[in-house]
Amino acid sequence: MKRHIEIKDTKALVAEAFCNFLRAELKDRASYHIALSGGSTPKDVFDLLSTARYGDIDWSKVYLYWGDERCVPPTDNQSNYKMTNDHLISRVDIPATNVHRIHGEEIPAQEAERYGKIISESVTEVDGLPQFDLVMLGLGEDGHTASIFPNQIALWDSPKNCEIATHPDSGQKRITITGKLINHAKKVAFLVTGASKADKVREIIQEDGDYQVYPASKVQPSDGEVYWFLDTDAATGMK
Ligand code: 6PG
Repeated sequence: MKRHIEIKDTKALVAEAFCNFLRAELKDRASYHIALSGGSTPKDVFDLLSTARYGDIDWSKVYLYWGDERCVPPTDNQSNYKMTNDHLISRVDIPATNVHRIHGEEIPAQEAERYGKIISESVTEVDGLPQFDLVMLGLGEDGHTASIFPNQIALWDSPKNCEIATHPDSGQKRITITGKLINHAKKVAFLVTGASKADKVREIIQEDGDYQVYPASKVQPSDGEVYWFLDTDAATGMK
């Protein structure tokens, strides 16, 4: 696994670094399958990607998936799809057929099954597994990533493409992709900003202390590359 670490002074500069990275990734590609992260961090990225500055991106070759989704309707403010639609999809010329939304409104067990099949049918298979060109990930303050939380870290090793997770505080059900897809991606990009994440970033990247209890520490794509896009607040304490 190759690892790249980019540290920028501000969230805006982190967003710009990621957008430039993505634009370079898309150059000369006929198609590009990306699993998006949710939460709030990607908003700045999606807002910037929607501006004329990145108007040269040909969205017809970009296929969007989600690494996780809250089990809520797509109109709910907690929906990762809604956040992405508000900040990106509704502002760029991407064919609706390129957008593979997780149906958070459906029965979780049925949707985990359905979405796992969508991924298998739509994402290029390499060595018997769907291989995303890029998986975007965030990092929770508890060390979770996608929607695999420390108290359910066993979900990481599920043989399924997708599993049902439960948020440890709210009890909210989530659909999440599992470690077998994340670690089979060509590239994985963490976008992490803010001082509240600094301890986990340091522990995970430097393999300090009990770092292996954090699901994000299991992101180690055997033949892939991991990028950490960090602001200086999140990178505090890194040697
Ligand atoms: C979600 C996520 C989750 C997120 C982290 C960081 O659905 O919430 O995908 O893994 O990336 O919790 O969230 P923030 O970007 O809001 O800090």
